[in-house]
Parts: sequence; structure tokens; C-alpha cells
Amino acid sequence: MSILITGGAGYIGSHTCVELLNAGKDLVILDDFSNSNKEVLDNIKKITNKDFKFYEMNYLDKDKLEKIFEENKIDSVINFAGFKAVGESTEKPIEYYINNVSGALNLLDVMKKHNVKKFVFSSSATVYGNPEIIPITEDCKVGGTTNPYGTSKLFIEKILEDLYASDNTWDIAILRYFNPVGAHESGLIGENPKGIPNNLMPFIAKVATKELKELSIFGDDYDTKDGTGVRDYIHVVDLAKGHLLALDKLDKEKSGLYIYNLGTGHGYSVLEMVKTYSQVNGVDIPYKIVNRRPGDIAQCYSNPDKANKELGFKATKSLEDMCRDSYNFIKNK
Ligand code: UD1
Repeated sequence: MSILITGGAGYIGSHTCVELLNAGKDLVILDDFSNSNKEVLDNIKKITNKDFKFYEMNYLDKDKLEKIFEENKIDSVINFAGFKAVGESTEKPIEYYINNVSGALNLLDVMKKHNVKKFVFSSSATVYGNPEIIPITEDCKVGGTTNPYGTSKLFIEKILEDLYASDNTWDIAILRYFNPVGAHESGLIGENPKGIPNNLMPFIAKVATKELKELSIFGDDYDTKDGTGVRDYIHVVDLAKGHLLALDKLDKEKSGLYIYNLGTGHGYSVLEMVKTYSQVNGVDIPYKIVNRRPGDIAQCYSNPDKANKELGFKATKSLEDMCRDSYNFIKNK
């Protein structure tokens, strides 16, 4: 039996493939390389010394999806194939909703036809909008998303809830990621966004390598420890392991719909990130303070207890690990 991984060449997808292959799972990966490249697949093989089946395609192509289910014995699916740039999503809402929402619907429809009902979905802490309590638990109110990317995650979560309500033989895990950063310790896979990065860590990385001149810190007047935004940064390898644990949970349970925060439970400020990155790697990170970024919130960090109790999930890598592995990956690019 195989696990189908959509978007398996992407940042979180590729790290999860490594953990699954290392755990002896059989994988079928699909990706259209819209935000990744073929080299990632070779590097997954290099790290794990394992092989997998690969299809170059977009998951909106239903005929090709059907073929995957006909040609392979798929028993579960992890869906990473989504567009994820917040700014771009506000300029291209239709493209984002088609790719993220219609893509997920396509996948679920084909799964249903083939009686495959185990599904793990990549969601995001963005579904909490401006969170009503901190640290955020899974029963915090969702909604109030500020961009089509975030809203697409919220819509898919709702679709999964409706699906489960209609047929409770489905077995679904919704994983709400906090801020995934870092890279595999081999330095072979990581995050290298095309163009100017939107997110903090890839931006810092490009300042560290001098590809970008300086970091703009979006506001130092928030009600936080030092005035800059506070987030729950989690090492991408810890996050990847969370998927393995979620699949184990679905394998153990006959059916159910489970929602988990995947974070560390610690909040770090932008200034703490800059300082740690600089110290750990011995690099200069010049920065200037600019206006707040519209839509940003002061702080966002998880209460990770539910995933810990029910999945045995615990992030083990430190902020130093995240900064070191990020630089180790980016410096050779
Ligand atoms: C952002 C998205 C969120 C998405 C997540 C993916 C927004 C409003 N939110 O979250 O929907 O799920 O990325 O990881 O875009 N910062 C700077 N300078 C920069 C970049 C960021 O000061 O050049 C600050 C931000 O103000 C924030 C922190 O760094 O306080 C983290 O920002 P970022 O990495 O973009 O993540 P989020 O805003 O948490």
C-alpha cells in the first residue's frame, strides 16, 4: 500500500517525504514543479537512499489523478499541493481558490470513487485570524482570515468537516502549522523562494548571504516583549515528523476527524530571530524598522498540548537548530 503525496517536491512536502521514506513507507509523489524543481526529488533520494514513484502533473487534472489511483494501491493521501504566497493571493484570488480549493475537491472526489478515505491536510494557524486567546488551542474560534490564501485553508477545513459529517467512515487529520522554518540538516533540501521572500526566515537568509541588502522589520511598537511581532517558529523536520504521527493516528483509528496545532508553544520576536541567526552563523543581518505590515498581528503561538497528548508530537529542535540549518542550506545556493 502506498501514500499519495501531492506537492511532494515543495518545502514541507519534501521534508515529509524524507521522514516517511525513512520510516519505510511506500510513496507515490505528484508535483507540477510550480514552486519547486526536479533536483529536490534527486535530493530526497540521496538523503534516504530510497526510491518512490513520481508523476509530474497538477492535481487539477482529474483524468491523470484517476490514473494514479488505478495504477497504484493508494491507501492514504497527504495534500501539500497548495499555493501559499499571501501577497500574491490578494492579487490572484481566482487562481488561488481554483488551485487550492478545486484541487482539494478533485482529490477528495477521486479518493471517494476509489474508496480511499484517509486524508491529511496541510492547514495553517492563519485560520485563527486574529486569535482570541494566546497560546492558541484548537478550539479557538476560526475565521477572520485576511487574504485569499488563508481563506482557502479555512474553506477546505470546512469542506472536510462537511464531508466527515456526511460520511463518518472518513479518517481525516487537519494539521494547523505555525511558522515552519529551517531546512534538512544535510543541507540538500530547504526553502528557497523565487524572488523576494514574503516570510521572515527566508528573507533573513537572503540578507545573510548578501543577496538582499537589509531586512525591513515591520513595526517595533506592538504590545510584545520588545515591540516586534512574535511567532511560533517550528523546525520543518519536526513539522514533517508530525505528519508521520498523524498518519499513525489515522491507521490506529477506524475513522474520525482530528484537528491539531503543530507548533512548539514558544513565541520568538523578530529581533530575537535576527540576533540568533546572526550569532549562530557568525553573519551580519543589517535591518531597519519600518511601518507595520497590513494584516499582521502582534503575536501568534500555539498551545501544542493536544498534538502532544494524542499523537505523541513534540518539537525537539531549538531556534539555534532552525537558524543553523537554514543558513547551511542557503549558503550553497
Ligand atoms: C505569514 C502569513 C500567514 C502564513 C505564514 C506562512 C501574513 C499576514 N501572514 O505569517 O498567513 O500562513 O506566513 O508561514 O502574511 N517580518 C518582518 N519583515 C519581513 C517579514 C516578516 O518584520 O520581511 C515579521 C512579520 O511582521 C511577523 C514575523 O516577521 O511579525 C513573521 O512574519 P512571516 O514570516 O511573514 O509569517 P506570519 O506573518 O506569521
